Amino acid sequence: MAKSILIANWKNKPSSLREMSLLLAGLAKKSRLYKQIPTYIAPPHTYFESVSKRANGYSHLASQDISILPEGKHTGSVTVDILKSFGVRLAILGHSEVRTAGETDEQVSKKVRFALKAGITPLVCVGETQRDAEGEYLEFLRHQIKLSLEGLRRKDDVSKIVIAYEPIWAIGKRAQDAITPEDLSQIVLFIRRVLVDLFGRETAEKVKIIYGGSVEPKNAKVLFETGVRGFLIGHESLDAKGFAEIAEVLIKK
Ligand code: PGA
Repeated sequence: MAKSILIANWKNKPSSLREMSLLLAGLAKKSRLYKQIPTYIAPPHTYFESVSKRANGYSHLASQDISILPEGKHTGSVTVDILKSFGVRLAILGHSEVRTAGETDEQVSKKVRFALKAGITPLVCVGETQRDAEGEYLEFLRHQIKLSLEGLRRKDDVSKIVIAYEPIWAIGKRAQDAITPEDLSQIVLFIRRVLVDLFGRETAEKVKIIYGGSVEPKNAKVLFETGVRGFLIGHESLDAKGFAEIAEVLIKK
């Protein structure tokens, strides 16, 4: 079975070059852990050079988004070519914070196809804003997955995708407020069923489903036992010690 993956989503942190340098020094101490699983760091673009130079031996560089603007001049944008020149292998697409800023499912699906064409693994984030007793959030989720993956025909392409289930209500909280393992197990089965309906069992089985939303050392083990194939880590990825403890959980399996 392929190894589980670990992705650090640094978002717009650390706040200074100095702090970023300290974080990289902390991560390097546990590099032997990160070498055992596919580990990715998605830093702000301004830190790409430092991360690619200093963390190259134990992690891959990832991007927090990609631009799909047509060729031409675009002030303020970073093109896929630039990302690739730094060695970016994976892009977080459709993160809820980007969706909240206005990104649509249609734009996410375009980015997915664009990334695949560029040889970058699309990590597609999906997740409901809140839960409701009638289970309407499941329909929301089904719809979001379907539209975010619209236009994918080739089985080969679909099997390269990673889905990150990130319920918005569980992002940026503490471990005790995160999703329960029971809930997460159900959702993993549900997402798998949606993928089977869309692409057939054989292809759907190849898609990795990972989880993100308040994963900390405290809850990493129980959440990992639900059948997810890795984690997308936000705030805890800025804590070298906590991030290493999460990596240990993924390795032990
Ligand atoms: P969190 O963030 O781990 O801080 O909840 C996860 C994410 O937004 O990807």
